[in-house]
Amino acid sequence: MSDTASHPDLSGRHVLIPGGTGTVGEGAVRAYLAAGADVVVPSRTQARADELGARLADVPTGRLHLVVHDYTTFAGAAGLVETMVDRLGSVDDVVAPIGGWWWGKRLWEIDEADWQAAFVDLATAHMAVARAALPRLSRRGAYSIVVGQSANVPVAGSGLVSMEQSALQMLHRVLVAEAEDSRRVFLLELGPVASGPATSADPGQLTAEQVGAVVVAASALPAAGRHLELPDGAGAEDAVAQLRAAA
Ligand SMILES: NC(=O)c1ccc[n+]([C@@H]2O[C@H](COP(=O)([O-])OP(=O)(O)OC[C@H]3O[C@@H](n4cnc5c(N)ncnc54)[C@H](OP(=O)(O)O)[C@@H]3O)[C@@H](O)[C@H]2O)c1
Repeated sequence: MSDTASHPDLSGRHVLIPGGTGTVGEGAVRAYLAAGADVVVPSRTQARADELGARLADVPTGRLHLVVHDYTTFAGAAGLVETMVDRLGSVDDVVAPIGGWWWGKRLWEIDEADWQAAFVDLATAHMAVARAALPRLSRRGAYSIVVGQSANVPVAGSGLVSMEQSALQMLHRVLVAEAEDSRRVFLLELGPVASGPATSADPGQLTAEQVGAVVVAASALPAAGRHLELPDGAGAEDAVAQLRAAA
């Protein structure tokens, strides 16, 4: 069995996954549920929450807490973390696969609404969750930020994505420097992720399930926070091997 097809035991862990309703997030949600953790997925809308609930009909969801809550503001994220600590007792791990794709304009063609939606809103959501959750994160847990390769590769017509993801990359580096040994903060830099069921993915293409296996391994293994590159399925296997070697 490959390293990304098996899960360690994370029963008793409380995991927060803002963005868990998305393509990548669903893989993380499935992986932590399979590992026995309690998983809190906030969504800004009931419709997105219901869609995720329906897609997870094939797995046991007794430990899934799907809540409608706007976690993308400083106050919203702080309230969410407080409620999670009150109700479950802790925030052990966080995965932040917040935000999707944006394209269609060169940088000099964007308007203020584009800037707000594709840069400011997403960067604010990540900052809000990080500042609310990191002080409460349990020492054994991990905080994982998810970005794409466009953080390092300029994509014409999608410049706002590259700029925002690049900012998240620096957010990760600053957090690692500031947390020193007190918190484990990871950055996962993904290649294109197969959409739809893993069984229909191109051979070798990264799947959301593999991303889930890597974040679960980051939670379970005592490796220090780091930047993990997952360009494809083999990269996901390498990332788990790196975490094992560093633990
Ligand atoms: N899919 C890929 O092929 C791929 C490849 C490389 C990297 N990535 C990276 O992985 C992360 C997640 O991507 P994804 O494909 O899973 O995205 P997605 O399917 O669009 O899901 C992103 C989730 O983020 C939440 N969100 C919060 N604020 C948002 C905002 N202002 N605009 C849009 N969504 C917002 C949404 O949850 P609620 O609406 O429920 O709150 C949404 O379900 C991103 O950083 C992306 O760059 C994705």
